[in-house]
Amino acid sequence: MPLFPNYEWNQVPPEFFYVTKALLECNYLQGLEGECDSSHLSFLHRAFTNERNQPLYKSDTAPFYETEDTDFGVRLIATRNFDDQHYIRFSAFIMPVYGCVPAGRPTNELEGYEIHTYVPADDTHCWRYDIGFRRDRAVSDDEVHRRKQINPDYTRIRNARNNYLQDRQMQKKINFTGIEDFLNHDACATESMGAIFDRSREHLGVSDKAVIAVRRFLLTSVKEFNTGKEPPHILRDAASNWFPHIDCFAHILGREVPWRQHFNYLTATAEKENPASYTARRKAAS
Ligand SMILES: [Fe+2]
Repeated sequence: MPLFPNYEWNQVPPEFFYVTKALLECNYLQGLEGECDSSHLSFLHRAFTNERNQPLYKSDTAPFYETEDTDFGVRLIATRNFDDQHYIRFSAFIMPVYGCVPAGRPTNELEGYEIHTYVPADDTHCWRYDIGFRRDRAVSDDEVHRRKQINPDYTRIRNARNNYLQDRQMQKKINFTGIEDFLNHDACATESMGAIFDRSREHLGVSDKAVIAVRRFLLTSVKEFNTGKEPPHILRDAASNWFPHIDCFAHILGREVPWRQHFNYLTATAEKENPASYTARRKAAS
């Protein structure tokens, strides 16, 4: 039997994390690919205020994307220009269904992140499990605002049949979508593509670099599986079963500072590193 992965969110006390479950009415990969697209923050989740991270989202609507294959999947790094600095968001795709993002977290903090999980129900539906965790404190109820958007049977109150309860006044004054809560923004964008989008009709561009990297990773895994090779990230070695380097966060750095140098603990392959040094190196970088 493979080992159960020792992700960070599995290691914290129960009050330090939360989980929600909601039905998404499209193929699981469409939902997952939505997590691999930083530029949508600048439009889909943008509000017409200067609260929280909004100035950072709108400072640069065409982030520069880098990706790297790792021992867990693919690391996704989106860099925006912000004044004379860089606003950098670190996200991750973990094999086979996790999209990890620094959702809603303040910039320059390393408190924890969210794991958006897309589990196929059938070809045209999936379950979205959102897991969030804090490294050093309990989660408060108001941090799990999406719970108010989900019915007891896990369907969403706002869905395609009621046009996501889109509000034209809200669209004029509050945000581009006229729809409440990012859970519904994401669902509207991915479900309205059709339950299974015809990819022969799509036109990928530079902002889709992370989507391309994740698809390539998945397709390579499938091809290798067909030749008898085990898929990546099936864990059998206890020594390599630890993943602090999945770390997802947003940070502002001077343009002259290479992120790879500043966050030198984010290595592609964890087992080559010294586990004991990770926490200290992470704190030193924050
Ligand atoms: Fe989103």
